[in-house]
Amino acid sequence: MQNDITAAVQAALAEIAGLSNSGEVAAATPGLVGKKAPLGLLKSKLGGLADIEERKKMGQAINDAVVSVEAALAVKRSECDERELAEQLASEHIDLTERLGVSQRGRLHLVTQATQRLEDVFIGLGFQVAEGPEVESDFYNFEALNMPKSHPARSMWDTLFVESADEGSVVLRTHTSPVQIRVMQEWPPPIYAIMPGRVFRRDTPDATHMPVFHQIEGLVIDRNITFRDLAGTIEAFTKAFFGAEFTSRLRPSYFPFTEPSAEFDIRRANGSWIELGGCGMVHPNVLRAGGLDPEEWSGFAFGFGIDRMAKERHGVEDIREMYTNDLRFLRQFS
Ligand code: FA5
Repeated sequence: MQNDITAAVQAALAEIAGLSNSGEVAAATPGLVGKKAPLGLLKSKLGGLADIEERKKMGQAINDAVVSVEAALAVKRSECDERELAEQLASEHIDLTERLGVSQRGRLHLVTQATQRLEDVFIGLGFQVAEGPEVESDFYNFEALNMPKSHPARSMWDTLFVESADEGSVVLRTHTSPVQIRVMQEWPPPIYAIMPGRVFRRDTPDATHMPVFHQIEGLVIDRNITFRDLAGTIEAFTKAFFGAEFTSRLRPSYFPFTEPSAEFDIRRANGSWIELGGCGMVHPNVLRAGGLDPEEWSGFAFGFGIDRMAKERHGVEDIREMYTNDLRFLRQFS
Protein backbone atom coordinates (compact mmCIF):
# COMPACT_ATOMS: atom_id res chain seq x y z
CA MET A 1 0.00 0.00 0.00
CA GLN A 2 2.88 2.34 0.75
CA ASN A 3 3.88 2.16 -2.91
CA ASP A 4 0.35 3.05 -3.97
CA ILE A 5 0.37 6.04 -1.59
CA THR A 6 3.70 7.26 -2.91
CA ALA A 7 2.54 6.83 -6.51
CA ALA A 8 -0.72 8.69 -5.79
CA VAL A 9 1.16 11.60 -4.21
CA GLN A 10 3.60 11.83 -7.13
CA ALA A 11 0.75 11.75 -9.66
CA ALA A 12 -1.12 14.43 -7.69
CA LEU A 13 1.93 16.71 -7.43
CA ALA A 14 2.59 16.31 -11.18
CA GLU A 15 -1.01 17.21 -11.96
CA ILE A 16 -0.86 20.26 -9.65
CA ALA A 17 2.34 21.44 -11.32
CA GLY A 18 0.51 21.42 -14.67
CA LEU A 19 -2.40 23.61 -13.48
CA SER A 20 -2.19 27.11 -14.96
CA ASN A 21 -5.06 29.18 -13.52
CA SER A 22 -7.40 29.40 -10.53
CA GLY A 23 -10.27 27.92 -12.55
CA GLU A 24 -8.24 24.78 -13.30
CA VAL A 25 -7.17 24.55 -9.63
CA ALA A 26 -10.79 24.70 -8.46
CA ALA A 27 -11.86 22.08 -11.03
CA ALA A 28 -9.01 19.67 -10.15
CA THR A 29 -9.32 19.89 -6.33
CA PRO A 30 -12.04 17.21 -5.75
CA GLY A 31 -10.14 14.73 -7.95
CA LEU A 32 -6.95 15.27 -5.91
CA VAL A 33 -8.09 15.38 -2.29
CA GLY A 34 -11.77 14.32 -2.35
CA LYS A 35 -13.24 10.98 -1.25
CA LYS A 36 -13.06 9.64 -4.79
CA ALA A 37 -9.49 10.83 -5.34
CA PRO A 38 -6.82 8.05 -5.44
CA LEU A 39 -5.80 8.82 -1.85
CA GLY A 40 -9.44 8.83 -0.73
CA LEU A 41 -9.98 5.44 -2.35
CA LEU A 42 -6.87 4.07 -0.62
CA LYS A 43 -8.32 5.26 2.67
CA SER A 44 -11.45 3.23 2.06
CA LYS A 45 -9.29 0.14 1.56
CA LEU A 46 -7.69 0.48 5.00
CA GLY A 47 -10.45 -1.63 6.51
CA GLY A 48 -9.20 -4.62 4.46
CA LEU A 49 -5.83 -4.65 6.28
CA ALA A 50 -5.87 -7.38 8.88
CA ASP A 51 -2.93 -6.10 10.93
CA ILE A 52 -4.04 -3.29 13.21
CA GLU A 53 -0.56 -1.77 13.48
CA GLU A 54 -0.22 -1.87 9.68
CA ARG A 55 -3.68 -0.27 9.37
CA LYS A 56 -2.65 2.56 11.75
CA LYS A 57 0.63 3.10 9.95
CA MET A 58 -1.00 3.22 6.52
CA GLY A 59 -3.79 5.49 7.88
CA GLN A 60 -1.15 7.91 9.11
CA ALA A 61 0.73 7.70 5.80
CA ILE A 62 -2.43 8.48 3.83
CA ASN A 63 -3.24 11.46 6.08
CA ASP A 64 0.30 12.82 5.62
CA ALA A 65 -0.02 12.32 1.87
CA VAL A 66 -3.33 14.21 1.75
CA VAL A 67 -1.82 17.07 3.80
CA SER A 68 1.12 17.37 1.38
CA VAL A 69 -1.20 17.35 -1.67
CA GLU A 70 -3.43 19.99 -0.02
CA ALA A 71 -0.38 22.15 0.76
CA ALA A 72 0.79 21.94 -2.88
CA LEU A 73 -2.71 22.86 -4.03
CA ALA A 74 -2.80 25.86 -1.66
CA VAL A 75 0.53 27.15 -2.97
CA LYS A 76 -0.65 26.77 -6.58
CA ARG A 77 -3.98 28.46 -5.78
CA SER A 78 -2.37 31.54 -4.21
CA GLU A 79 0.18 31.80 -7.07
CA CYS A 80 -2.66 31.81 -9.61
CA ASP A 81 -4.79 34.28 -7.60
CA GLU A 82 -1.90 36.71 -7.21
CA ARG A 83 -0.95 36.62 -10.87
CA GLU A 84 -4.55 37.05 -12.02
CA LEU A 85 -5.09 40.06 -9.71
CA ALA A 86 -1.92 41.70 -11.03
CA GLU A 87 -3.09 41.11 -14.62
CA GLN A 88 -6.50 42.60 -13.85
CA LEU A 89 -5.01 45.71 -12.21
CA ALA A 90 -2.64 46.19 -15.13
CA SER A 91 -5.50 45.99 -17.63
CA GLU A 92 -7.61 48.53 -15.67
CA HIS A 93 -4.78 50.98 -15.01
CA ILE A 94 -5.00 54.33 -16.84
CA ASP A 95 -1.86 56.35 -17.11
CA LEU A 96 -3.14 59.95 -17.00
CA THR A 97 0.24 61.56 -17.56
CA GLU A 98 0.72 59.52 -20.72
CA ARG A 99 -2.72 60.49 -22.05
CA LEU A 100 -2.50 64.20 -21.31
CA GLY A 101 1.15 64.58 -22.18
CA VAL A 102 1.22 67.73 -20.03
CA SER A 103 3.49 68.14 -17.05
CA GLN A 104 2.75 71.79 -16.13
CA ARG A 105 -0.33 72.86 -14.21
CA GLY A 106 -2.09 75.99 -15.43
CA ARG A 107 -3.66 78.61 -13.19
CA LEU A 108 -6.83 80.64 -13.22
CA HIS A 109 -6.77 84.14 -14.69
CA LEU A 110 -6.70 87.01 -12.17
CA VAL A 111 -10.22 88.07 -13.11
CA THR A 112 -11.55 84.51 -12.72
CA GLN A 113 -9.85 84.28 -9.33
CA ALA A 114 -11.41 87.61 -8.29
CA THR A 115 -14.87 86.51 -9.51
CA GLN A 116 -14.66 83.27 -7.53
CA ARG A 117 -13.50 85.13 -4.44
CA LEU A 118 -16.32 87.66 -4.79
CA GLU A 119 -18.82 84.83 -5.11
CA ASP A 120 -17.38 83.16 -1.99
CA VAL A 121 -17.62 86.37 0.03
CA PHE A 122 -21.22 87.07 -1.00
CA ILE A 123 -22.34 83.47 -0.63
CA GLY A 124 -20.92 83.74 2.90
CA LEU A 125 -23.17 86.78 3.41
CA GLY A 126 -26.22 84.73 2.31
CA PHE A 127 -26.44 85.68 -1.38
CA GLN A 128 -27.26 83.37 -4.32
CA VAL A 129 -25.61 83.55 -7.75
CA ALA A 130 -27.57 84.31 -10.96
CA GLU A 131 -26.52 84.89 -14.56
CA GLY A 132 -27.98 86.66 -17.59
CA PRO A 133 -27.22 86.91 -21.32
CA GLU A 134 -24.36 89.02 -22.71
CA VAL A 135 -26.38 89.92 -25.81
CA GLU A 136 -29.31 91.78 -24.34
CA SER A 137 -32.45 93.57 -25.48
CA ASP A 138 -32.77 97.34 -25.23
CA PHE A 139 -35.68 96.67 -22.86
CA TYR A 140 -33.59 94.92 -20.19
CA ASN A 141 -30.41 96.97 -20.65
CA PHE A 142 -32.15 100.37 -20.58
CA GLU A 143 -35.92 100.62 -20.62
CA ALA A 144 -36.76 98.39 -17.63
CA LEU A 145 -34.00 100.21 -15.74
CA ASN A 146 -35.99 103.44 -15.86
CA MET A 147 -34.39 104.70 -19.08
CA PRO A 148 -37.07 105.02 -21.75
CA LYS A 149 -35.94 105.66 -25.35
CA SER A 150 -34.20 109.02 -25.74
CA HIS A 151 -33.58 109.26 -21.98
CA PRO A 152 -30.42 111.38 -21.65
CA ALA A 153 -28.90 108.96 -19.10
CA ARG A 154 -28.44 106.39 -21.86
CA SER A 155 -25.42 108.42 -22.95
CA MET A 156 -23.69 107.43 -19.69
CA TRP A 157 -22.89 104.13 -21.44
CA ASP A 158 -21.22 104.08 -24.87
CA THR A 159 -23.21 101.26 -26.31
CA LEU A 160 -22.31 98.59 -28.89
CA PHE A 161 -25.36 97.56 -30.92
CA VAL A 162 -25.97 94.20 -32.56
CA GLU A 163 -27.52 94.17 -36.03
CA SER A 164 -31.15 93.12 -35.86
CA ALA A 165 -34.38 93.49 -37.83
CA ASP A 166 -35.64 96.04 -35.33
CA GLU A 167 -32.62 98.33 -35.50
CA GLY A 168 -31.22 99.45 -32.13
CA SER A 169 -33.22 96.91 -30.11
CA VAL A 170 -30.35 94.45 -29.42
CA VAL A 171 -27.17 95.49 -27.61
CA LEU A 172 -24.07 93.97 -26.05
CA ARG A 173 -25.02 94.62 -22.44
CA THR A 174 -23.25 97.70 -21.09
CA HIS A 175 -23.59 96.56 -17.47
CA THR A 176 -24.89 93.62 -15.40
CA SER A 177 -27.90 95.64 -14.15
CA PRO A 178 -30.33 94.03 -16.68
CA VAL A 179 -29.93 90.78 -14.74
CA GLN A 180 -31.63 92.55 -11.80
CA ILE A 181 -34.84 92.68 -13.83
CA ARG A 182 -34.53 89.07 -14.99
CA VAL A 183 -34.02 87.89 -11.40
CA MET A 184 -36.98 89.94 -10.10
CA GLN A 185 -39.16 88.45 -12.82
CA GLU A 186 -38.10 84.90 -12.02
CA TRP A 187 -37.40 84.66 -8.31
CA PRO A 188 -40.08 85.37 -5.72
CA PRO A 189 -38.89 87.88 -3.08
CA PRO A 190 -37.10 88.14 -0.69
CA ILE A 191 -34.10 88.19 -3.06
CA TYR A 192 -30.42 88.24 -2.09
CA ALA A 193 -28.60 87.76 -5.39
CA ILE A 194 -25.27 88.47 -7.04
CA MET A 195 -24.85 88.38 -10.80
CA PRO A 196 -21.31 88.30 -12.19
CA GLY A 197 -20.56 88.57 -15.91
CA ARG A 198 -18.89 90.16 -18.92
CA VAL A 199 -19.99 93.56 -20.17
CA PHE A 200 -19.11 95.68 -23.22
CA ARG A 201 -18.66 99.39 -23.83
CA ARG A 202 -17.24 101.52 -26.60
CA ASP A 203 -14.54 102.71 -24.17
CA THR A 204 -10.96 103.43 -25.24
CA PRO A 205 -8.53 101.25 -23.28
CA ASP A 206 -6.44 103.06 -20.67
CA ALA A 207 -4.98 102.24 -17.25
CA THR A 208 -8.45 101.83 -15.68
CA HIS A 209 -10.72 101.09 -18.68
CA MET A 210 -11.22 98.22 -21.13
CA PRO A 211 -13.92 97.91 -23.81
CA VAL A 212 -14.69 94.39 -22.53
CA PHE A 213 -14.65 94.03 -18.79
CA HIS A 214 -16.51 92.33 -15.93
CA GLN A 215 -19.00 93.45 -13.34
CA ILE A 216 -20.71 91.87 -10.40
CA GLU A 217 -24.22 93.08 -9.75
CA GLY A 218 -25.85 92.77 -6.36
CA LEU A 219 -29.58 92.90 -5.64
CA VAL A 220 -31.38 92.72 -2.31
CA ILE A 221 -35.18 92.88 -2.23
CA ASP A 222 -36.99 92.43 1.05
CA ARG A 223 -39.34 94.27 3.38
CA ASN A 224 -38.04 97.41 5.12
CA ILE A 225 -34.63 97.49 3.45
CA THR A 226 -32.90 100.86 4.00
CA PHE A 227 -29.77 102.66 2.82
CA ARG A 228 -28.13 101.58 6.08
CA ASP A 229 -28.38 97.97 4.97
CA LEU A 230 -26.63 98.90 1.72
CA ALA A 231 -23.83 100.80 3.48
CA GLY A 232 -23.36 97.97 6.00
CA THR A 233 -23.21 95.32 3.29
CA ILE A 234 -20.63 97.28 1.29
CA GLU A 235 -18.47 97.85 4.34
CA ALA A 236 -18.65 94.14 5.32
CA PHE A 237 -17.79 93.21 1.77
CA THR A 238 -14.78 95.61 1.59
CA LYS A 239 -13.24 94.15 4.71
CA ALA A 240 -13.89 90.54 3.63
CA PHE A 241 -12.55 90.98 0.09
CA PHE A 242 -9.65 93.43 0.49
CA GLY A 243 -8.74 92.99 4.17
CA ALA A 244 -9.48 94.76 7.47
CA GLU A 245 -7.02 97.59 6.71
CA PHE A 246 -9.05 98.77 3.67
CA THR A 247 -11.59 101.59 3.95
CA SER A 248 -14.52 102.33 1.66
CA ARG A 249 -16.64 105.43 1.14
CA LEU A 250 -19.95 106.19 -0.54
CA ARG A 251 -20.13 109.35 -2.61
CA PRO A 252 -23.47 110.84 -3.78
CA SER A 253 -24.05 110.11 -7.45
CA TYR A 254 -26.74 109.54 -10.03
CA PHE A 255 -28.06 106.39 -11.70
CA PRO A 256 -31.52 106.33 -13.29
CA PHE A 257 -32.31 102.92 -11.73
CA THR A 258 -31.49 103.80 -8.11
CA GLU A 259 -32.67 106.62 -5.86
CA PRO A 260 -30.74 107.77 -3.93
CA SER A 261 -27.55 106.66 -5.70
CA ALA A 262 -23.89 106.56 -4.72
CA GLU A 263 -20.46 105.65 -6.04
CA PHE A 264 -18.42 103.19 -4.01
CA ASP A 265 -14.69 103.99 -3.70
CA ILE A 266 -11.90 102.29 -1.77
CA ARG A 267 -8.77 103.92 -0.44
CA ARG A 268 -5.46 102.60 -1.76
CA ALA A 269 -2.33 102.14 0.36
CA ASN A 270 -0.92 105.42 -1.03
CA GLY A 271 -3.98 107.32 0.20
CA SER A 272 -5.61 107.85 -3.22
CA TRP A 273 -9.18 106.68 -3.87
CA ILE A 274 -10.43 104.56 -6.77
CA GLU A 275 -14.04 104.13 -7.86
CA LEU A 276 -15.07 100.48 -7.88
CA GLY A 277 -18.78 100.66 -8.51
CA GLY A 278 -22.17 102.28 -8.27
CA CYS A 279 -25.01 101.52 -5.92
CA GLY A 280 -28.27 102.79 -4.48
CA MET A 281 -31.83 102.04 -3.45
CA VAL A 282 -33.79 100.30 -6.23
CA HIS A 283 -36.03 102.85 -7.99
CA PRO A 284 -39.80 102.15 -7.70
CA ASN A 285 -40.10 102.07 -11.52
CA VAL A 286 -37.48 99.30 -11.62
CA LEU A 287 -39.36 97.28 -9.00
CA ARG A 288 -42.51 97.66 -11.12
CA ALA A 289 -40.64 96.56 -14.28
CA GLY A 290 -39.55 93.47 -12.31
CA GLY A 291 -43.17 92.78 -11.37
CA LEU A 292 -42.90 93.85 -7.72
CA ASP A 293 -45.09 96.25 -5.76
CA PRO A 294 -42.94 99.17 -4.45
CA GLU A 295 -45.43 99.65 -1.59
CA GLU A 296 -44.60 96.19 -0.30
CA TRP A 297 -40.97 95.64 -1.31
CA SER A 298 -37.86 97.77 -1.16
CA GLY A 299 -34.25 97.00 -1.87
CA PHE A 300 -30.77 98.06 -2.84
CA ALA A 301 -28.50 97.24 -5.77
CA PHE A 302 -24.86 97.64 -6.63
CA GLY A 303 -22.60 97.03 -9.60
CA PHE A 304 -18.85 96.65 -9.08
CA GLY A 305 -16.08 96.45 -11.68
CA ILE A 306 -14.38 93.06 -11.15
CA ASP A 307 -11.30 93.89 -13.26
CA ARG A 308 -10.66 96.98 -11.20
CA MET A 309 -11.06 94.97 -8.01
CA ALA A 310 -8.53 92.38 -9.20
CA LYS A 311 -6.19 95.20 -10.22
CA GLU A 312 -6.40 96.88 -6.81
CA ARG A 313 -6.15 93.68 -4.80
CA HIS A 314 -2.94 92.67 -6.53
CA GLY A 315 -1.48 96.15 -6.95
CA VAL A 316 -1.47 95.94 -10.76
CA GLU A 317 -0.59 99.37 -12.22
CA ASP A 318 -2.47 99.14 -15.50
CA ILE A 319 -5.67 97.15 -16.16
CA ARG A 320 -4.44 96.37 -19.72
CA GLU A 321 -1.62 94.25 -18.24
CA MET A 322 -4.25 91.64 -17.37
CA TYR A 323 -5.20 91.17 -21.02
CA THR A 324 -1.90 91.17 -22.90
CA ASN A 325 -1.55 87.44 -22.13
CA ASP A 326 2.09 87.77 -21.16
CA LEU A 327 2.78 84.55 -19.26
CA ARG A 328 5.54 86.21 -17.23
CA PHE A 329 2.87 88.54 -15.84
CA LEU A 330 0.10 85.95 -15.43
CA ARG A 331 2.35 83.39 -13.70
CA GLN A 332 2.88 85.74 -10.77
CA PHE A 333 -0.66 85.13 -9.56
CA SER A 334 -1.28 81.55 -8.55
C1 FA5 B 1 -22.85 100.90 -13.81
O1 FA5 B 1 -22.51 100.16 -14.73
C2 FA5 B 1 -24.10 100.61 -13.01
N1 FA5 B 1 -24.85 99.60 -13.66
C3 FA5 B 1 -23.72 100.24 -11.58
C4 FA5 B 1 -24.87 100.20 -10.65
C5 FA5 B 1 -25.52 99.01 -10.40
C6 FA5 B 1 -25.32 101.36 -10.02
C7 FA5 B 1 -26.59 98.95 -9.53
C8 FA5 B 1 -26.40 101.31 -9.16
C9 FA5 B 1 -27.01 100.10 -8.92
P1 FA5 B 1 -20.72 102.39 -13.95
O2 FA5 B 1 -20.86 102.72 -15.38
O3 FA5 B 1 -20.22 103.46 -13.04
O4 FA5 B 1 -22.11 101.87 -13.32
O5 FA5 B 1 -19.80 101.11 -13.84
C10 FA5 B 1 -19.63 100.42 -12.61
C11 FA5 B 1 -18.17 100.05 -12.41
O6 FA5 B 1 -17.69 99.30 -13.52
C12 FA5 B 1 -17.20 101.23 -12.34
O7 FA5 B 1 -17.22 101.80 -11.07
C13 FA5 B 1 -15.89 100.58 -12.66
O8 FA5 B 1 -15.37 99.89 -11.53
C14 FA5 B 1 -16.29 99.57 -13.67
N2 FA5 B 1 -16.06 100.05 -15.03
C15 FA5 B 1 -16.79 100.92 -15.73
N3 FA5 B 1 -16.28 101.09 -16.97
C16 FA5 B 1 -15.19 100.30 -17.05
C17 FA5 B 1 -14.25 100.01 -18.09
N4 FA5 B 1 -14.35 100.50 -19.29
N5 FA5 B 1 -13.25 99.13 -17.80
C18 FA5 B 1 -13.18 98.55 -16.59
N6 FA5 B 1 -14.04 98.76 -15.58
C19 FA5 B 1 -15.04 99.64 -15.80
